[in-house]
Amino acid sequence: MVALIDSPRNLHAQGRLTLQTAEIAAETTAFRCLDWDRDRFDIEFDLKNGTTYNSFLIRGDKTALIDTTHAKFREQYLAYATENINPFELDYLIVNHTEPDHSGLIKEILAWAPHVVVVGSKVAIQFLENMIHQPFETMVVKSGHELDLGQGHKLSFVSAPNLHWPDTIFTYDAGTRVLYTCDVFGMHYCDDFLFDETPHLLEADFRYYYDCLMGPNARSVLMALKRIDNFEVDLVATGHGPLLRYHRQSWMEKYRQWSQNQVQTETFVALFYVEEYGYSDRIVKAIAEGISKTGVAVELVDMSVADSHEVRELAHSAAGIVVGMPPQLDQNAAMHPALSTLLTSVNSKQSMGLFETGGGHDEPIYPVRNRLQAIGLKEVFPPIAIKDTPSQSTDQLCYEAGIDLGQWLTRDKSVQQSKQIDAHLDRALGRISNGLYIVTAKKGDLSSAMIASWVMQASLEPLGVAISVAKDRAIEMLLHGGDRFVLNVLEEANYQPLMKHFLKRFPPGADRFAGIDTYPANNGSPILAKALAYIECEVSNRYECSDHMIVYATVKTGRVAKRDGLTAVHHRKASNHY
Ligand code: FEO
Repeated sequence: MVALIDSPRNLHAQGRLTLQTAEIAAETTAFRCLDWDRDRFDIEFDLKNGTTYNSFLIRGDKTALIDTTHAKFREQYLAYATENINPFELDYLIVNHTEPDHSGLIKEILAWAPHVVVVGSKVAIQFLENMIHQPFETMVVKSGHELDLGQGHKLSFVSAPNLHWPDTIFTYDAGTRVLYTCDVFGMHYCDDFLFDETPHLLEADFRYYYDCLMGPNARSVLMALKRIDNFEVDLVATGHGPLLRYHRQSWMEKYRQWSQNQVQTETFVALFYVEEYGYSDRIVKAIAEGISKTGVAVELVDMSVADSHEVRELAHSAAGIVVGMPPQLDQNAAMHPALSTLLTSVNSKQSMGLFETGGGHDEPIYPVRNRLQAIGLKEVFPPIAIKDTPSQSTDQLCYEAGIDLGQWLTRDKSVQQSKQIDAHLDRALGRISNGLYIVTAKKGDLSSAMIASWVMQASLEPLGVAISVAKDRAIEMLLHGGDRFVLNVLEEANYQPLMKHFLKRFPPGADRFAGIDTYPANNGSPILAKALAYIECEVSNRYECSDHMIVYATVKTGRVAKRDGLTAVHHRKASNHY
C-alpha cells in the first residue's frame, strides 16, 4: 500500500515536498520524503531530478525507526509519525549516518519519545551528542553486533566507515532480508516509483551519485561490500531515491566494478588502529586529515574487528602503513594477532609511521618499529609518543606527520607532472615574478609559518591581500575564515637568513620560530623582528584552485621598519617551482 501526503504550505517556500509511505516487507514501513525541486546537494551535486530522504519503521516485539529525514519535512513526517506510532512503543532509533538530511528530526523524535535508545556507531553517537546537546540513551554498535526486535526481525550491524562519513553503518534485517544502507547505493532521484522498476531512467543518476560521493572512497566501498557478502538480500533500502528490489544485484555489482577500477590506480595509506582504545580516534583523525591533504587516499582499519584476510590484503597493497599500537592482549603471549598478520604482509617498497595511543597497555612500539625497518620500510616520521591527554599541539603534530607521509608518497608524481609542462610555457610562466614574504600565524597553542611568494594586493575597499597556499601546507589549517595572520615582507638586502631558516624541512610538530626573533602582533601572530615590514591580516574568503587555495584577507594594520628599504624580489626561471 502506498500513501501520498502533500503539504501545500511548503509549495512556495521550498519547492514541492511530499511524503510517501508504503509497506515494503513484513511489519516494515518506508517513509519516503520526496523533495521534488531540490537542485543542489552539498557543494558537489547539481541535481536534475530532485531527491528523496528515506526512513523506515520495523515493528517486531520491539519497534525500531531507522534514520529520520531532512528538517524541511518536519511538519509532514511528525504528523504521520505521531498519528501512526505510539511513542511509548518506539524502542530504538537506529542512526545509520548522521548527516542532517537523515538526522534532521532526531531532536524532535527524542522530545516525542524521550526513552528511545539511539543506536549507532561510536562516531555517530559522538556527532549526535555534539549536535543535540541533551542527554539520551545510546547503544554503540559495529560489525558483528546484533539486536533482536522479536517476530523474526533480528538485526545485524555492519561498519561502513567513509560511506559517506566516518560514522556510517548498515543495518540488515535477517527476518525480511532487507539491507538498510543510508547513502550507499542511493541516488538523487525523485519520482513516485517506490522501487527500481525503470533502471534505464535511473542509471545516469546512480553513476553520478557514485562518482561524487562514493568514488573518492572506493576502497571503503569494497570493504563494505565484502562485509555484506554473506547476507541474503531481497531489498536494498537506501536513504536516497528508489529502493532497489528488481535489479539489486546489478546495482551492487556496478559498485564493485567501479570501485575495483578506481583502486587499481590509487595510492593509499592503510591506517591500522583499535577504535575504542586510548586516544586512537583523535590521533587517527589528525593523521588521516594530513595524508588526505596531499591527495593520497586513506583506508582506516580497526584491528579489533578486521579479519586476517582484510589486514593481509591492505597491509600488502598499501603504499604507506601507519600503525597505532593496539593493546597487549596477554603480557606473556604473542603480540596482537592483527599486528602479527600485518608484519608478515608488508614489504620493503612501503613507507611507514607509528604512534602510541595513550591507552596504557600498548604493544611496545620499538620492537614493531625494528621489525618494520628490518624488512626495509622507510620510516617517514618518528614514532609519536602519547604520554598525556592529547592537546591542540598533539593534533598539529599528527596532522603534520600525515602531510609528511603523503608528500613522501607523491614525490615522484609531482616531479613527473612538472616534467610534462611544455618547456616554452614553463619558461614563459616562470617570468612572472613576485616579492618574498613569510606568513606567520598563531591560533591557541598552534603556530606555523611558511615562505610565500604568490602574494598580491587584491582590493582597495576594504584593503585586502590574496595569498596562494598549497593545500598540503601545514599552515593551511590556520588560514580558514576568520583566522588571523601576519604577512612579513622580506628585505632585499637582508632576506637570506630568514629564507634559509624557513626553507628547512621541519619535523612534525617542530617549533618554526625556535632561534628567530619575534614579537606578537595585535592579532597574536608572530612578527619577525628582521622583516622589512609587516601587515596584520584576517582571512575573509578562500577559493579552491586545484592544488592551491587562494586565501583572501582584509588587512587591519601594518608598519615598515626601514622607510628606504626595498622588498626582496623573487625572479624565477621556470613555472614548476615557487
Ligand atoms: Fe545523505 Fe551523507 O547524507
